[in-house]
Amino acid sequence: MSIWSYLALAAEPPEAIFRALMRPAAAGPVVTADPADLASQLVRFALDPIQLEILRSPARYIALCCHRQWGKTQCAALKAVHLAIYRPGAEIILVAPSLRQSGALLRAIYQFLDALQIPVKRDGLNRLSMLLPNGSHIVAIPNTSDTVRGFSNVSLIIIDEAAFIKDETYRAVFPFLAASNGNLLLLSTPNGQTGFFYRAVHEPQNGFVRFQVRASESSRLTPEFLSMARLELGDAYAQEFECSFTMGEEQIFDRDLIDQALDPIIQAFR
Ligand SMILES: Nc1ncnc2c1ncn2[C@@H]1O[C@H](COP(=O)(O)OP(=O)(O)OP(=O)(O)O)[C@@H](O)[C@H]1O
Ligand SMILES: [Mg+2]
Repeated sequence: MSIWSYLALAAEPPEAIFRALMRPAAAGPVVTADPADLASQLVRFALDPIQLEILRSPARYIALCCHRQWGKTQCAALKAVHLAIYRPGAEIILVAPSLRQSGALLRAIYQFLDALQIPVKRDGLNRLSMLLPNGSHIVAIPNTSDTVRGFSNVSLIIIDEAAFIKDETYRAVFPFLAASNGNLLLLSTPNGQTGFFYRAVHEPQNGFVRFQVRASESSRLTPEFLSMARLELGDAYAQEFECSFTMGEEQIFDRDLIDQALDPIIQAFR
């Protein structure tokens, strides 16, 4: 207990002072191999079965396509916090379309670490970064291929709003995983029918473990909210809430039509 804590106690009634003096010294967090144990200390609600599956998944490449406000960012933050604590020296890279958005993910991680009383400091190089006492390092980088080189031994890359990230950025960050056999977690709502996130979700041979949750399958959003959202969002509703990769404005042909046109089996029946 610091001198300031004692001074603060001077104004307290005697039994409060006794309780404070008898309080055990703050122990570090108990972190088991199961990220769900840590998550249960950090969030007040029960995680969805899919959130638990993602937290526990050892899959190297995960693509999570879920409706708005499902809890994608929070789930990713929990996965990052567990890794950062459980594996000292972990190198975790966060990417989002804007620094504000990767900052939001970083803030969610910071709040969890703060709740666990784990002090963090900046790394001295990157504005949006956190260095933990165990040597784990978390850094948010911008959506650009120019300035994001120079990371190695990366344990986990999290790309939030992945459908809105440029392919050039993806091509710049993906090689960070080469030497370390690190993991990649992509999370997003859909955004058109092009780009690496579209491919991760749609190309079965590409090695991603995929998770998808539509708002109409979710127990958390009420039918009343969803019918209002349908009215308010119009065409955007399908992408924002139903995981539907509708044609982007710059596309001339719907991707399904193109795929059908190219599919020899479908052609044979024409
Ligand atoms: N299992 C759950 N039960 C109840 N609330 C949850 C659950 N998972 C997440 N939430 C809450 O849902 C809200 C949205 O979480 P989050 O921002 O992570 O969602 P998101 O999918 O990233 O949203 P967006 O698509 O807008 O970026 C937060 O308030 C979070 O605490
Ligand atoms: Mg989010």
